[in-house]
Amino acid sequence: MIEEGSGPGGCPASREQPREEEPREEPRVAHSRTLRFWLDPANIAVRLGQAGPVTRTKAGPAVAFQVNDPSLIRKVGCGEDIFQAWSADPCLRDFTGNGFAGSEGQPHRDRRALMKPALAAPRLTALGPAVRDSTEGLLAGLPSDRPVDVPVEMSRIVAGLVIETVLKSSISPDTLAALARARSVLSAGVFWTYALSPWPWVPTPKGRAFRRALGTLDEATREVYVRHRPDADGKDVVSLLKHASDNRPDAALHDLRALLFAGIEATASTLAWACYELGRHPDHQAAVRAEADAVLGADAPADTVRPDLMPRTTGFVREVTRLHGIPFLVRRPRHATNVGEHPVPAGALVTLPLGALRRDPARYARPEEFDPLRWSPEAHPQLSPAALLPYGLGPRYCPGAAASEILTPVALASLVRSRTLRTTPPGRTVRVSLELTPMPKGLTMLAAPREPHPPAPGPAHDEQADPAARRP
Ligand code: HEM
Repeated sequence: MIEEGSGPGGCPASREQPREEEPREEPRVAHSRTLRFWLDPANIAVRLGQAGPVTRTKAGPAVAFQVNDPSLIRKVGCGEDIFQAWSADPCLRDFTGNGFAGSEGQPHRDRRALMKPALAAPRLTALGPAVRDSTEGLLAGLPSDRPVDVPVEMSRIVAGLVIETVLKSSISPDTLAALARARSVLSAGVFWTYALSPWPWVPTPKGRAFRRALGTLDEATREVYVRHRPDADGKDVVSLLKHASDNRPDAALHDLRALLFAGIEATASTLAWACYELGRHPDHQAAVRAEADAVLGADAPADTVRPDLMPRTTGFVREVTRLHGIPFLVRRPRHATNVGEHPVPAGALVTLPLGALRRDPARYARPEEFDPLRWSPEAHPQLSPAALLPYGLGPRYCPGAAASEILTPVALASLVRSRTLRTTPPGRTVRVSLELTPMPKGLTMLAAPREPHPPAPGPAHDEQADPAARRP
């Protein structure tokens, strides 16, 4: 069991005696009791061995059924006829509106099929140079002389990146900053609204702050819609949504809002946790930087900005996902059913504990240790990134997976190429937020200019410009 206030994810590295030259520099992570439950490998191991493939658990006030067996996890994750995805729950209608995230069955499949070509790997992988250039521009707004709030700054950078490179649009710096600040209110609001929906008399955080944050997301979405610059072939995702929504422009806006919010949410969390691990591991920071210099430099050919040519960086991102990725997915059965042999009543919470699977000692040696090299092409045994289920499974499989595969490593490499990340103040405890995607709450870091040999600064980012215009 990971103890409150123990090392990050219980990492042994954080329990080592502090070295003389780095006295107590490392922050510590404190998981809430609920999160600890879903992350604890003993949780799954004990239950797998002793209690079987499905266990009845208590998470806060809720009784939940945790599915431990991989084939049953697939059955629940893929069986939308029986298991309703959280985003389709009527309690979230204010948030999902008429968009695809709140729809189900054929309408959901149709909308996903419509967007698919625009979000497919060949089109997205080609975005490498644009992601590098956009990140450089957005980094100009990252203070270098004082500690920064990492979750907020990563949300700002990721929102700008998604808008510029995937949604082919732009947004004013003020709206971008407001959106970055609104993210955690939205994320926590949606999480708690869903978690507490069986008890409508318990006050949910759907208060003024949530409505204001939703207003900010709406304003950002409208700006992105209006400022959209279609690709020449008209096959980018916003063009496809606009064309298909002639009679229902609000549906296009709600789809765009879902893409924007979901695109920021998990990507910003991955980058924020990556910053946390960079601060703890200066050696890995140096290795990612060396790779970034080779692949992202101004003289490097554009076709080298590809994740498959960045093994240190992609390994780092995978390890961040393994230890800090989305800890569990949730579904609710529409009617009473059986999961394996286990009867589950209608509406019960069914959890798929991905976080525990990712710490399962049967799958990963030294599972609590942050070790990006376990993903290197030379490592034995070779690990499968697909086993992390980073993008979920079934009909709700992340439509932004290909986008994230290029955005996350290239943004991380660009960040490390121009800044040196240090945790500050030393020795503080970082709490893990209970949001849709957990964030290192309260993580502040110094993002000082890289020393020595800082690369040429990116263009000023007072108004987001067409990334294609920045570099021939
Ligand atoms: C590190 C980055 C990312 C991770 C780890 C991630 C992970 C996930 C996961 C696990 C789900 C499924 C949730 C469930 O089944 O309950 C999901 C859904 C979704 N993701 Fe991502 N995602 C990432 C980036 C993105 C990006 C960049 C976009 C958009 C550009 C995006 C858009 C979406 C949308 C719209 C859904 C909901 C799909 C639906 O309801 O049909 N994601 N994501």
